[in-house]
Amino acid sequence: MSISLIVKNFEPVRLEGRVPLEFDFQNKNNILIISKDQSFLTHGVHKFPAKFFPELPRYLVTKYSKVGDVILDPMCGSGTVLLESILQNRHAIGVDIDPIAKLISKVKTTPIEPLLLDKIRNAIFHLIDIQLKSRKKPEIPEFNYRDKWFKFFVLEELAIIKQSINDLINKLKSNENYSEKKLHDLKDFLMIVFSSIIRTVSNADPHCTRTVIRKKLVKKISSLDTINKFFFNLDKQIECMKEFYRVYNKLYYKIVDIRKNSDARNLDIKDNSVDLVITSPPYANAVDYPRTHQLELYWLDLINGDPLSKLKRNYIGTETVFSYEYNQLYQSDYSKLNWLVRKIHQEDPRRAYILFNFFKDMEKNLQEVFRVLKPSAKYCVVIGNNTVRGTYVKSHEIITQMALSSNVGFKLDNYFHSGLINHYIKIPRKERMSGEWILIFKKS
Ligand SMILES: C[S@@+](CC[C@H](N)C(=O)[O-])C[C@H]1O[C@@H](n2cnc3c(N)ncnc32)[C@H](O)[C@@H]1O
Repeated sequence: MSISLIVKNFEPVRLEGRVPLEFDFQNKNNILIISKDQSFLTHGVHKFPAKFFPELPRYLVTKYSKVGDVILDPMCGSGTVLLESILQNRHAIGVDIDPIAKLISKVKTTPIEPLLLDKIRNAIFHLIDIQLKSRKKPEIPEFNYRDKWFKFFVLEELAIIKQSINDLINKLKSNENYSEKKLHDLKDFLMIVFSSIIRTVSNADPHCTRTVIRKKLVKKISSLDTINKFFFNLDKQIECMKEFYRVYNKLYYKIVDIRKNSDARNLDIKDNSVDLVITSPPYANAVDYPRTHQLELYWLDLINGDPLSKLKRNYIGTETVFSYEYNQLYQSDYSKLNWLVRKIHQEDPRRAYILFNFFKDMEKNLQEVFRVLKPSAKYCVVIGNNTVRGTYVKSHEIITQMALSSNVGFKLDNYFHSGLINHYIKIPRKERMSGEWILIFKKS
């Protein structure tokens, strides 16, 4: 089956803020969302590469599901779909294999009482102040190239913040009557705020998805900048969290289930149980998530001593591949994928294999989503295209060919194109994305 998806208007229709439900996204439309809600409630608690503008999942959730439904995001990243689902009175299930993604998603969707937030703001200020004045040196964690990534005084200040968060939680455990769950939620919130400043105060480029130090980049970080940045973000996020708490209390349907050990290719979810699935998979050949978050993973003790490469192997689109895997040319049931892989293989067999693997993983995901969706329910896939070794990869067409094939079984319900602006995603050289396709598949 040959599939070509095209847009009618190359000049996009600009949509500022909320996308009106009555807006007609007939096939072939081209739009540009100017987001106004990237920091609405808890949406802005942490950066994340290729994060959704909240307006898009909000539109899809409202259009394709009803109050009380269950919405799944099998590659939930920082949890934009999950938060938007509960804000529209739907339940949400989130799956991701990235430990930082799961933690951000949890924090974004877990309310914390305003009184507790006010109390801890002053308490943590006090604990940090004591440690700064103390002669006792904080315990700085060991990790690869630590002293290359951070200046020594920054390491000390980060260690003081981390230690103070732990001290505060221990103090609350012994002195107060807070449940274990409440303290756990509070610690996760503080750790995500802590995580949100790590890249900024490191020696790495804060605007690049990969964690890299650029010789030309002059970063000025002075003593106490780290502590001040932490309090700046904490104060901001406390206000956002208070507002989220107020809104959350008025919601009726709001269960958020973030799976601990699930995978988009093997979902631990019952057949025919989900009302709507929305996701944006990683871009083929564009973002190395563990490498993006490596400093945060170390500081938050989220890699448990395993080498980064072990974690990397499980990501859809992984670049951690072995030469014995890519020394042959792979074939699939999909003509568009075969053409692409053959072309890139001539120049770069490793890249060709990485791409092949990416799409085979996406086929598994499409099959899994088909299995868990209720009959007639929809799968909305938001996917970008990019250029690999000089060849333009039309991921949306390959994904569509797979989804409609007899290996999967979806029907194509609708599709449209959206321009990209202001995403936290900077891909080196020419291998950038030009926009995203929103593909709406229907389980027949
Ligand atoms: C483009 S991001 C999603 C961003 C998200 N829409 C948001 O708003 O933050 C793609 C996500 O796919 C996740 N991912 C990659 N491989 C996966 C797998 N095997 N199972 C589940 N999630 C995976 C990555 O960790 C990443 O968080």
